[in-house]
Amino acid sequence: MCGIFGCILKDEAAAPVIHAALKRLEYRGYDSVGEATIDDGKLYVKKDQGKIDEVHMVRNLDDLPGSLGVGHTRWATHGAPLEVNAHPHLDCSGQIAVVHNGIIENFAELRLELENHGHVFKSKTDTEIIPHLIEEILKNNSSFSLAEAVLEAVKKLQGSYSIAVISSKEPDKIVCARNESPLVVGVNDEAVYFASDIPAFLPLTNKALMVDDGELVTLSLGHVEIRKIADSQLVVREPKIIEWTPEMAIKQGYPHFMIKEIHEQPDCLRNTLRVQEHYADLMSTFLDRARDVYLVACGTSYHACLASSYMFSKLAFLPSYPIIASEFVEQCGKSVNIDSTILAVSQSGETADTLASVNSARQRAATILGLTNTIGSTLTRVSRVYIGQQSGPEIGVAATKTFTSQLSVMAQLALRLAKKRGKVSQDEMDFLAEKLKKIPDTVEEIIQKQEQKIKMIAKKYKDSKTFFFLGRGISTATAYEGRLKLMEIAYVPAIAFPAGESKHGPISLIEPGFPVVFICPKDETHKTLIGNIMEMKARGASIIAVIEEDDEEIKKLVDDYIEVPNGIPEVLSPVPFVVPLQLLAYYMAIERGYNPDKPRNLAKSVTVK
Ligand code: AGP
Repeated sequence: MCGIFGCILKDEAAAPVIHAALKRLEYRGYDSVGEATIDDGKLYVKKDQGKIDEVHMVRNLDDLPGSLGVGHTRWATHGAPLEVNAHPHLDCSGQIAVVHNGIIENFAELRLELENHGHVFKSKTDTEIIPHLIEEILKNNSSFSLAEAVLEAVKKLQGSYSIAVISSKEPDKIVCARNESPLVVGVNDEAVYFASDIPAFLPLTNKALMVDDGELVTLSLGHVEIRKIADSQLVVREPKIIEWTPEMAIKQGYPHFMIKEIHEQPDCLRNTLRVQEHYADLMSTFLDRARDVYLVACGTSYHACLASSYMFSKLAFLPSYPIIASEFVEQCGKSVNIDSTILAVSQSGETADTLASVNSARQRAATILGLTNTIGSTLTRVSRVYIGQQSGPEIGVAATKTFTSQLSVMAQLALRLAKKRGKVSQDEMDFLAEKLKKIPDTVEEIIQKQEQKIKMIAKKYKDSKTFFFLGRGISTATAYEGRLKLMEIAYVPAIAFPAGESKHGPISLIEPGFPVVFICPKDETHKTLIGNIMEMKARGASIIAVIEEDDEEIKKLVDDYIEVPNGIPEVLSPVPFVVPLQLLAYYMAIERGYNPDKPRNLAKSVTVK
């Protein structure tokens, strides 16, 4: 998730306007920045790694000449946050510049093709193939306009993209295109703008033209032309007036980043299905060959490790040890050696206890693998192989979208391991892969159908003194995560444990009306879990159950239930089943008058001790 912006102004210099707009998009990515402008038929480019203010101090992002330009603020997915990988990317002639937000899945094969035609690439990014592709098309079709060449180029792209292209050969136009990545146009009498998000140009105009997937937009001063990519059909669309304040706009109209990020999960999960095959395969090879596998992390990331240990065992018959990072050195520091493999999971890639575990394992020659949301973070630098989960920056302190994305990547790894180890039939592989592809839509459906109901349940239980969260099997991890969220942002003391442990202490705390949340996918544990529900019910507990839609048996037993669509395979169930718990925690915090984005006693996890 990056931020792109550009503008064509009447007489004004574009660079300072681009710089200011990128600052308003910095919540979308902040590891490198760049701008390109055209003046007097010449292309000017400035880009570097680092936050916008840092780069501006050194390079001055306001002094590029010209009243037409584009800009980009980056959240790396392909290629570390280095100057060479920063956008804009150029073609061989240095006359075409492109900024891009999204993930091009078929970039490797297109790059090879273009290299065979003599194109020279400078970066490790997926994006750089776009300016070279346009250059190649223009070379082979000299009568083509820039828009026509961009149209042909995007037809060859697979994946998500919103792009903007400028060329010193057509100095009065910006050509943009969109596919599964946000793009909006802003207009007023003096200028025309495009951006990943409305906040970028809202202080400049509140007249916005929405661009849909599969559309190509050609901008020139006073004119916006929209065409369908598929058949070049012209699209007529009127601008809308945006009533938001800049603050509201950054949250896209949501009251808090946390609820915005909960709603972003379907798109983030679609992005996780685009992780680079090569690295996922490499990582599953290392896991397959390891004598012992430790899954190490803190907090929410540890819960992803716990769920993954069930996935690896159930699908690939691979035993793995989920370890809370702050206990790693004490618990297994001495048993780690050259045959051990550590898969460290950290959305920030900077959590001190996780890095300390990695360092102690490295000193014992173990193999380090990493799963993170932050390319360029310390974890990526100390890992033999790492996977970027592509969730985009998570501003809310409470991890939500990064958790479900971690689970999706781990499920893909477990499937690869199962295939490598020949532990599941091809039919089952195909079935699970198909279900995994549907998970983003499933999560979308849960949010749409259940959010209001969850709001009511939160209102009903807002004064509860304590909560229990129970699950069996892989849902134990879901229960732990539900508990963490409720404690972290609503400050409700909560206990989570495997339902089988109910009799060993927790059941003594049950009194009439005591809220107990059960996570109940229809898997092998379903029958036994019903027994646990009855035990708690018999002692007066109020039961809230997250169940599958057609689970009439449990519906009859419980006080409140939240439904998820039927037929989700057990090993994938933590993704859809945790979303209602994220929403419950969010609305409990709201009901109790707290700001979910700024939990007390906490800051966004970078070096949490
Ligand atoms: C979760 O909501 C918390 N913000 C926190 O527990 C977090 O999961 C933990 O600090 C780990 O952070 P990481 O994934 O960046 O390493």
